[in-house]
Formats: sequence, C-alpha cells, structure tokens
Amino acid sequence: MIEFKDLVKSFGDKTVLNGVSHVMETGKTNLIIGTSGSGKTVLQKCLVGLLEPDSGQIFYDGKDFTHMEPEERKLLRQQIGMLFQGSALFDSLTVQENVMFPLNMFTKDNFTKKLKRVNEVLERVNLVGSNKKFPAEISGGMKKRVGIARAIVLNPKYLFCDEPNSGLDPLTSMVIDQLISELTKEYKITTVINTHDMNSVMEIGENILYMVNGKAEWTGTSEDIIFSKNKQLNEFIFASQFLQDAKNMRMMQATGEISESDLPDNGALPEK
Ligand SMILES: Nc1ncnc2c1ncn2[C@@H]1O[C@H](COP(=O)(O)OP(=O)(O)O)[C@@H](O)[C@H]1O
Ligand SMILES: [Mg+2]
Repeated sequence: MIEFKDLVKSFGDKTVLNGVSHVMETGKTNLIIGTSGSGKTVLQKCLVGLLEPDSGQIFYDGKDFTHMEPEERKLLRQQIGMLFQGSALFDSLTVQENVMFPLNMFTKDNFTKKLKRVNEVLERVNLVGSNKKFPAEISGGMKKRVGIARAIVLNPKYLFCDEPNSGLDPLTSMVIDQLISELTKEYKITTVINTHDMNSVMEIGENILYMVNGKAEWTGTSEDIIFSKNKQLNEFIFASQFLQDAKNMRMMQATGEISESDLPDNGALPEK
C-alpha cells in the first residue's frame, strides 16, 4: 500500500501537483488518469523519489518515505520496479543483459544464479528463447515485455508503469495490460499505472485516481465510472459519441432498463 497526502510540486510559477492525496492498494492495478500534461508522470516521479515534492507526505506500507534516511530509502528503492515510458531498454545490450542489469546492480549472485532468475522472468512474460536478441530486433510489444521482465526481476513489492501501452496497437495493449494485472495478483504487488488509454481504464481500473489541475477530481473503480455523473470525468473517458452511447447502454443494462435480448443485432439502441 502506498499512501500520499497533500502532495504539492511546482516548477517555477507552474504548480503541477496542488495537494493531491490518495491510497494505492496492495495487489491491485492502481491507475492514475488525466489529460496529457496533467501531472501523472510528475506524481509517479515524486512517489519513487526521482523528484522531491515541495510539501506533503508519502507512506510505503506505513513507512514515511518523505523523511527516510538515505540508507533506508535505498533499500526501499530496491523493492520498487519501474517500467518506463517507451520501455527504455539499453539498445547495445541483449534482452538477457537488459533483464540481468538490476541483478548486477543490486545483488552479489553469481552468473548462473542470475541467469536462472532472468530465464524465470523471461518465461513468465512469454519470451523464452529471446535471450540473445537486441532491442532493435524485436517488436514493440516484445520490448514492453522485456521492460516488464526487467521491472520484476528483483521481485518488487511496488511496480510503477508510465504509459505502458504507448505506441502499441489495441490488441497488444490489452495483452500487456493483462500481463501487468496477472503479475500484480500473482505476487501481490502494489502496482501504479499512468495511462490515458481508455481500454486500460475499463479493463484493469481497480482503483482509479483522476487528476485535474493537480488535484484528485474523482476516484473509484471502472464499474463506478459507468455510473459516475462527474461531467469532467465523463467527457474525458467517453470522449466520442460512440463511447457515450456505449456507457449509456451499459448503464441501462445494469439498471435493468434494457436487457441483452432487447438489443437488435446491429447493436443500436431500441426505439423507445
Ligand atoms: N522537470 C520539469 N521542469 C519543468 N516543468 C516540468 C518538468 N516535468 C514536468 N513539467 C511540467 O509539468 C506538467 C505535467 O507534466 P507530466 O507529469 O509529464 O504530465 P503527464 O504525464 O500527465 O502527461 C507539464 O506541464 C510539464 O511541462
Ligand atoms: Mg506522462
């Protein structure tokens, strides 16, 4: 569980985080959503300590991250896995070397042990046999999976993913979302995902923080979104007429106003 209270972060006279508070839950995919430039990346960077907030508090399972001694912070950082925007693989390293990188940095294990662990996580992300490939030789979806393998190789308690679907087609995006979601459950990770992908919001949005003007505008689950009357949220999530219709239909189904059998084959709403 990661809890943060009243986080403020400004750059010059531009306030990006303006007193945002929320709790990221253990074993869940916690989403941070909001328009481009709303401060999602800045928030994640504050949470992992890559940026210092101007004020506010951050607690990792009750431990005050904001006032931690450097040594303790370092230990905590080793429990944090990160999947960066665009995967951020080392181009000159093979898949195996990329995934082994954190093990080289943070463990004193011998090569055989490290390779065993690398192969375990490569298998978990369905990349068996790709050890010797270079990033330039694999697809975008595979690169993400290498990034995920690298992020989980140290068995993190916390996993941060910044726009994990950027640059992927919708189907591959869903596969990546499912993988992150499964790992979160399997290893009871507190996973924090920045996204503006509406498929992700609806598919894996277990605990969503919607940020506007550096504050929490709305929080809830993907189910809650269907019923939410928050105008800003609705305009953001269901931006197109098509999606607004889909939301209305889902809502009417849920309230029993229409049933599946009422729907004509072409999926249009029945005439009233
Ligand atoms: N290091 C920085 N220096 C100055 N401004 C920054 C810095 N990092 C982010 N910003 C600004 O903070 C705002 C939020 O950025 P960001 O968190 O990247 O948005 P998002 O991830 O939601 O698209 C943007 O206006 C951006 O220009
Ligand atoms: Mg961002």
